[in-house]
Amino acid sequence: TTVEKQGFRHFMLKEIYEQPSVVRSCLETYLQPNWHAQTNADISPIDLGLASELCENVDYIQIVACGTSWNASMVGKYLLEQLAGIPTMVQYASEFRYAPAPMLPNTLTIGVTQSGETADTLAALEMEKQRKMGLESPYDARILGITNRPESTLAHMVDRIINTQAGIEIGVAATKSFTAQLMGFYFLALELAYRRKNLALDKLEGLIKGLRELPAQIELILEKQGQQIEELAHEFADTQDFIFLGRGINFPIALEGALKLKEISYIHAEGYPAGEMKHGPIALLDAKVPVVAIAMPGLVHDKVLSNAQEAKARDARLIGVTSIDDSEARSTFDDLLFVPHVDELLSPIIAVVPLQLLAYHIAARRGLDVDQPRNLAKSVTVE
Ligand code: G6P
Repeated sequence: TTVEKQGFRHFMLKEIYEQPSVVRSCLETYLQPNWHAQTNADISPIDLGLASELCENVDYIQIVACGTSWNASMVGKYLLEQLAGIPTMVQYASEFRYAPAPMLPNTLTIGVTQSGETADTLAALEMEKQRKMGLESPYDARILGITNRPESTLAHMVDRIINTQAGIEIGVAATKSFTAQLMGFYFLALELAYRRKNLALDKLEGLIKGLRELPAQIELILEKQGQQIEELAHEFADTQDFIFLGRGINFPIALEGALKLKEISYIHAEGYPAGEMKHGPIALLDAKVPVVAIAMPGLVHDKVLSNAQEAKARDARLIGVTSIDDSEARSTFDDLLFVPHVDELLSPIIAVVPLQLLAYHIAARRGLDVDQPRNLAKSVTVE
């Protein structure tokens, strides 16, 4: 093939390490260079090439997706609601097909799929297309796709796609396509926030500045943490269960961390909103069940730390994904996966990287077929 591993042991590892350049290419493609809130207030800092019919009069957003793309969509929901102020629903395509929500006026439907070929996602969108055909307003008909495969079936089916710039992904466990989907959601949420004047321009400018710093920050994690995470992974060669906790914008990252681990290492893993742990998963905890908590600086930081303390009281080994300057977290966790300090809204893209590495190294250590895990397919083109 023309796509080689370039010295990496697996495609998955290569794709994890490609993330800085994928994010960089997203920034180059979709951001206006040299945009400043003071001088350029009348033009959008983001250019997704979306026609105004697609992004005006959006009262609701409805997203359908599967697997990792669903997890990315959950981060998207947070951004669309908190930045653009648009109520957003995220549905599993396989569920939505058989129980579609009643239609609401002025809804933008979004299909999110890495491959652009997932049968359930395509069928859900096709169904939506048919349902919307009966409606009069053009604002009811629109469907947007988010994918890294501009030649896919999805791309031909929808009005418009956001090409996430991740390129072809070979490892069955999605990594760079996930971070690229997150970038797509940042741009979409910020573009809508700008058009709706839902966000102060200096806040917008700050977030864009933060987005521009991500590639170097991801590089730093890969350089500084790679080795340490590999060593840590060795300690979990015989572990059977993991719990991942996160809150707010990082709850979907807990889901994604757990999904990555179970997909390729076959270790049972559950992602949970940290505040819900007391309503169930806490019963599972003992010294044999490690808990990974995402405790990034921001609104829910202290809440996550206190949820993590509750796990510690049940003898669980605590692994924290925390900011480098977080001294409080240092005393809470047994093991630390450090990431640079970023705005909480940007933290999912930073927090997911050590979790991808952790899952990868645990699976590789177990000698498993990381790129082709049992029972899974890269794209599921049957129902
Ligand atoms: C399969 C893959 C997952 C992926 C899911 C959705 O199950 O193994 O990695 O997240 O399909 O795929 P899509 O191409 O629609 O994003």
